Amino acid sequence: MSVRVIIGAQWGDEGKGKVVDLLSDQADYVVRYQGGANAGHTLNFDGQTHILHLIPSGIFHINTTCIIGNGVVVDPLTLLEEIELVKSNNVDIDGRLLVSETAHVILPYHKSLDKADEHALGQQKIGTTGRGIGPAYVHKISRVGVRIMDLLEPELLRKKMEINLAEVNARLTENYKAAPLELEGMYRQMLDAAEQLKPYICNTTNRIHKALAAGREFLLEGAQGTLLDIDHGTYPYVTSSSPTTGGACTGTGIPPTAIEHVMGITKAYCTRVGNGPFPTELTGKTGDELRDAGHEFGSTTGRPRRCGWLDLVALKYAAKINGINELVVTKLDVLDQFDTVKACTSYRINGTETTDFPLRSREIDSIEPVYREFKGWKSSTRDATSYDELPLVTREYLEAVADYLDIAIRIVSTGPGRNETLIIGDL
Ligand code: GDP
Ligand code: IMO
Ligand code: MG
Repeated sequence: MSVRVIIGAQWGDEGKGKVVDLLSDQADYVVRYQGGANAGHTLNFDGQTHILHLIPSGIFHINTTCIIGNGVVVDPLTLLEEIELVKSNNVDIDGRLLVSETAHVILPYHKSLDKADEHALGQQKIGTTGRGIGPAYVHKISRVGVRIMDLLEPELLRKKMEINLAEVNARLTENYKAAPLELEGMYRQMLDAAEQLKPYICNTTNRIHKALAAGREFLLEGAQGTLLDIDHGTYPYVTSSSPTTGGACTGTGIPPTAIEHVMGITKAYCTRVGNGPFPTELTGKTGDELRDAGHEFGSTTGRPRRCGWLDLVALKYAAKINGINELVVTKLDVLDQFDTVKACTSYRINGTETTDFPLRSREIDSIEPVYREFKGWKSSTRDATSYDELPLVTREYLEAVADYLDIAIRIVSTGPGRNETLIIGDL
């Protein structure tokens, strides 16, 4: 048995989808453990691109079972759309897609609240994806949430939705002067969705534990990234779940002692979509060049991503929080054209240099990054078929990253395609 967690080590969109798809070949189970349809995980193979929001990125591997774990917040309508999309590619998902009965449901009123809350924040808005993530987790933590199992009990579902909607409508009408939402239409929509989702719903905790006991291989697929973690990220500019390793345990029911590999995914540079601190952000020409070269536009919302040089201080923090023991560097090819490549090796905060990631907002806001410069390699890395084929200066950059973190790089990605991947050693 082996359990490997795939963790976003930055602010999301590190290429988790590509890595999970790649490794799913060897996995019996792929489990999503948190977040919801705020995620956009891109898979690229056979000349086609697929973007998954809820279904685990192992779904195109026919021998792999994909589980939407208890920690995920599930939008039934988005999930049904995605099921159709996968099926339309002639992929048989019967018995291969399982949805936890204890996962929470995102209802249309969560999305309305998400948008209204954001609007009310004005300049201070988080820049959420508008997928209802925050409000759905608020209901979960407040112990009034609708769970997947409730979809199968019409009376109970109606009662819960009625109570929640009364509270939501009070906020929408009183605080935001918006029109109230009607129960009937959304209730019918949910009953209809429940009927279609019924075959996928089960006790995934039990399934997972039986498979663990039988020695099966697991990949736990994180969404978002460490710096968007509700506890360890750049609060309040974070998502409402735990993308870090701890979340992989609570969001699946797999104990920490079962986790052997924690694979941290980082781009060769940095991006962030949405608002909040980003110490190495480049707002000028170089930032634009990174965005153009990396096609840095959100997979879920299409928003331009903010870009900057690699932040090793933040990455080391992510490595510690998650216990990362395997590193993946993606989008190396994006740096191919630059004369100089930089990586931030320390922060100057109020005149003092540090390699510790600060937690106080005031300190985070006053970070001046201190960079180490590397000579650019000015040649294409996309055609490399092994790590050793990379130019010497490229390897020097990668080795400096591995040395700084004291973690071995196991995979280097040099393009979006499955085959544009260099695996170092035996995984
Ligand atoms: P995720 O949310 O972590 O799964 O990442 P996204 O799918 O949102 O964003 C990663 C983007 O980069 C996608 O468009 C991928 O197809 C693309 N991508 C992944 N790896 C590479 C790479 O090595 N090079 C390039 N150029 N693109 C990549
Ligand atoms: P993947 O899994 C990048 C960001 C949003 C916003 C903040 C809160 O594709 O890496 P939310 O809708 O979660 O309440 O928004 O989090 N965000 C992401 N950024 N990648 C993601 O997912 C994200 N999911 C949420 O932009 O700043
Ligand atoms: Mg993404």
